[in-house]
Amino acid sequence: MTESLTVRDNRTGLEYEVPITDGTIRAADIGQIKPAEDQPGLAVYDPGFVNTASCRSSITYIDGDKGVLEYRGYPIEQLAEKSTFLEVAYLLIHGELPSREEYDTWVHNVTYHTFVHENVKGFMEGFRYDAHPMGMLMASVGALSTFYPDASNISDPETRDIQIIRMIAKMPTLGAWSFRHAQGKPYVYPDNDLSYTANFLSMLFKMSESKYEADERIVKALDTLFILHADHEQNCSTNAVRSVGSSQVDPYSAVAAGIGALYGPLHGGANEAVLRMLKRIGSKENIPSFIQGVKDGNERLMGFGHRVYKNYDPRAKIIKKACDDVFEVTGVNPLLEIAQELEKIALEDEYFVKRKLYPNVDFYSGLIYEALQFPPEMFTVLFAIGRTPGWLAQWLELTQDKEQKIARPKQIYTGARTLDFVPAAERWA
Ligand SMILES: CC(C)(COP(=O)(O)OP(=O)(O)OC[C@H]1O[C@@H](n2cnc3c(N)ncnc32)[C@H](O)[C@@H]1OP(=O)(O)O)[C@@H](O)C(=O)NCCC(=O)NCCS
Repeated sequence: MTESLTVRDNRTGLEYEVPITDGTIRAADIGQIKPAEDQPGLAVYDPGFVNTASCRSSITYIDGDKGVLEYRGYPIEQLAEKSTFLEVAYLLIHGELPSREEYDTWVHNVTYHTFVHENVKGFMEGFRYDAHPMGMLMASVGALSTFYPDASNISDPETRDIQIIRMIAKMPTLGAWSFRHAQGKPYVYPDNDLSYTANFLSMLFKMSESKYEADERIVKALDTLFILHADHEQNCSTNAVRSVGSSQVDPYSAVAAGIGALYGPLHGGANEAVLRMLKRIGSKENIPSFIQGVKDGNERLMGFGHRVYKNYDPRAKIIKKACDDVFEVTGVNPLLEIAQELEKIALEDEYFVKRKLYPNVDFYSGLIYEALQFPPEMFTVLFAIGRTPGWLAQWLELTQDKEQKIARPKQIYTGARTLDFVPAAERWA
């Protein structure tokens, strides 16, 4: 039996049968419901797409009530523990885990494409001395479309593949250079003897030594953080990539739009807010009064709560473990003690329990990034590097999805109508 909805329009008394597929109804079916033949059909008002599916996707599965996150069916916990960021990137893009040969070719290709055209370096040097690294990253990724004009041929599978490899490969180079720029340090070229994440650390921190050797525990922790951020289905930046990509523009321009969305404080900036909050609390003794402030509605416990997860964010558990590894190398961040105490109290306190407020991915990630000597402006750049394979997997899926159309929502018009225009000279006379 096909599932359906019977809708009765009380304006006309007519009844409609609307099919239910995959737990959704089609907005177009609702559009057939009209008060009269010459009137517009019924539409759905949903600012922020809170209850609207914009696509079918086989990339990432989330069950927010149970705290489940899977990429292509594999649980995030297993990927974070046993895989590498580049293998996860392959999985997201290609839909399946690579054979040994596929993996070697993939790693070789990504490594081979880490360099950027020397002119890219030239224009990045032209940014103001204090340019925000995220603004630099967004602009330079957008600019890559001018270096690869063939990228506009998005219907050609081979062209799509090469742009995907280029973008995953070059993102750390552009991100690291944006970081060095604000510090007035020379840009470091990629070292293709190193792994993806070790090379990124080299481009960030290498000075006069002939070879930069990062501590393996740091490399693993950062690689894990990249895995945790690699995709999160239809979040704001992914929606931006899909929306811009739906115009059939090249993928550099679409991903630059995603970076723009991630730049905003409601999306990529929460871990910075957590750090600011921990610094403001300052010591464990101040926690009870802070918690009281949250309950009274004067404060927000940053890094707690999530639109989708109404249970412990599975990524937060993994990050907590990564914290231990990083702090073993860097020494413990004194803010960790405050964070752990806050978490302990919040998990027992009725206010948070009742509202299903649990730590999210941002609660601990800022502490790790700070321990690794990143200034807060870099946190979102790290997020963007991790999210790149997800954005591209979603873009690739979009380009092959026959049901997709150019993104073009409806609106409810609330302005004036049919006014008579009086020319300026008459109005001001
Ligand atoms: C993430 C977030 C925006 C989700 O918001 P949401 O799904 O719209 O949830 P709501 O704002 O409707 O919150 C539901 C209730 O919990 C409360 N709440 C939600 N997050 C809270 C927080 N971090 N601290 C204190 N109270 C919080 C709200 O005040 C509301 O309480 P009420 O029912 O008494 O009014 C929100 O939890 C938040 O602001 N968290 C802090 C910022 C953050 O960590 N963002 C990163 C997300 S990855």
